[in-house]
Amino acid sequence: MVAGPIHMAYILAALLFIAALAGLSKQETAKYGCLSGMFGMGIALLATFAQVETGLGFGLIVVAMIIGAAIGIYVAQRVAMTQMPEMIACLHSFVGLAAVLVGFNSYFELGAVASDAVSIPVGASQATIVAMMEAAEQAAAAAGHAAEMTSGELNTHLIEIFIGIFIGAVTFTGSIVAYGKLNGTFKLRVFKSAPLMLPGGHYLNLAGIIVSVLLCVWFMAADTPSIIPLVLMTLIAFAFGVHLVAAIGGADMPVVISMLNSYSGWAAAASGFMLSNDLLIVTGALVGSSGAILSYIMCKAMNRSFISVIAGGFGNEGAAADSDEEIGEYHELKAVEVADLLKNSSSVIIAPGYGMAVSQAQAAVASLTEKLQARGTTVRFAIHPVAGRLPGHMNVLLAEAKVPYDIVLEMDEINDDFEDTDTVLVIGANDTVNPAALENPNSPIAGMPVLEVWKARNVVIFKRSMNAGYAGVQNPLFFKDNSFMCFGDAKKTVEEIVSNI
Ligand code: TAP
Repeated sequence: MVAGPIHMAYILAALLFIAALAGLSKQETAKYGCLSGMFGMGIALLATFAQVETGLGFGLIVVAMIIGAAIGIYVAQRVAMTQMPEMIACLHSFVGLAAVLVGFNSYFELGAVASDAVSIPVGASQATIVAMMEAAEQAAAAAGHAAEMTSGELNTHLIEIFIGIFIGAVTFTGSIVAYGKLNGTFKLRVFKSAPLMLPGGHYLNLAGIIVSVLLCVWFMAADTPSIIPLVLMTLIAFAFGVHLVAAIGGADMPVVISMLNSYSGWAAAASGFMLSNDLLIVTGALVGSSGAILSYIMCKAMNRSFISVIAGGFGNEGAAADSDEEIGEYHELKAVEVADLLKNSSSVIIAPGYGMAVSQAQAAVASLTEKLQARGTTVRFAIHPVAGRLPGHMNVLLAEAKVPYDIVLEMDEINDDFEDTDTVLVIGANDTVNPAALENPNSPIAGMPVLEVWKARNVVIFKRSMNAGYAGVQNPLFFKDNSFMCFGDAKKTVEEIVSNI
């Protein structure tokens, strides 16, 4: 394929990616957003593939694509909705690793360009490389190399390589730690939900950045762009990624995921610069900036300082760990009693959380909604921005169960309505309805806006035990006079209630 059609295809793919972002911003259009993104990626792949010359490289790419597609289909068919954030973290780590590999490849290609075109050894000085590359411009261009670099262009390329590898390496190890924290089954302390920071943690991070800047100066200033500073910086960036994310507590993980999403975008954009691929630059920038905006929105929703979170929990040292011990007596209701309570309620708000996803109770919740509405009860849903394990998690589940969009309200839209509500059903939510966030300045979730469900006349909490939620802190809501625990798997309990109404 010639350059014209390829550029057209790239522009079309970029437009489809932008349309995908626009579509994904609303629940009603999210499906079209996904389709648009898939279509754009298909075009981008075909256009890139069309440029590959036939030969060994072509064959290797086809084999790699078949293996990648097979793994992708296998994993996508098996991953549960509740495991999506882990999978996203895992995919981010691939983007980071790819940026590291592309960076090193670009570095080695610099040597190859010089030696192929003008037969100089890789160890020649930078000035010699530039002079000889200029002299060999025509020959190298004919050979398809980008050898017409001036000294300024070479320096820019070296910076691209250095920064690309740095961002990629931080994204790679940071995403692996995020994966471990979200998965929760690994024994290593670094993968535990509680923050882990080495003594003098922030100074270590600062030192890592300063040393990396000095290594960059060494890399750029040396006559020969040596591989030593590049390798040293990569090792520091790997350690930096681990330390940065390990220091962030479980409650802030949603922000970390979107932040790593943003990093992976910038890593992809850096790869685009190294490969001189415009589409990769545009796509990376789209992912990078939308991830950064999402992180900012989530920080605002959780009342967290953006800088504090991305600097590895900077400024959070004062927050003492809250205990998960029980703090009083709780009342219990059986499913039949909850059904009676609902029959006598004229307004009901349902606050779903991660437990609804675990038990896959959304269809039962939708039937309960229909049954109550048929009796003339007003039923609405209250969605906390970080309920579940990924942004929009609850919205996706409720849409899947065909709950009408107009009764699904965001926290800001419904938080003032709890005091005029007869009964609130908290279905598998915990941290997002925890009053300690507002009442206890030492709580790890202090300051996070929560659904103020306790203001309703009655609150029924569906869960299996008195265990803490994701942030590992006890919830005083369970011990309030107007709160009732309804123990058991949420799906089974809701189905029992439906059959008793
Ligand atoms: P959580 O605080 O995680 O609480 C979920 C509750 O569901 C638990 O208390 C659990 O209690 C209950 N549960 C689990 N399985 C259940 C089942 N089968 N039946 C009934 N109940 C069940 O949930 P949340 O209120 O949605 O808060 C989300 C938390 O995750 C926040 O801390 C948030 O920061 C964090 N987080 C969010 C995201 C995003 S982007 N949304 C990403 C990562 C982390 P039992 O074990 O006693 O049943």
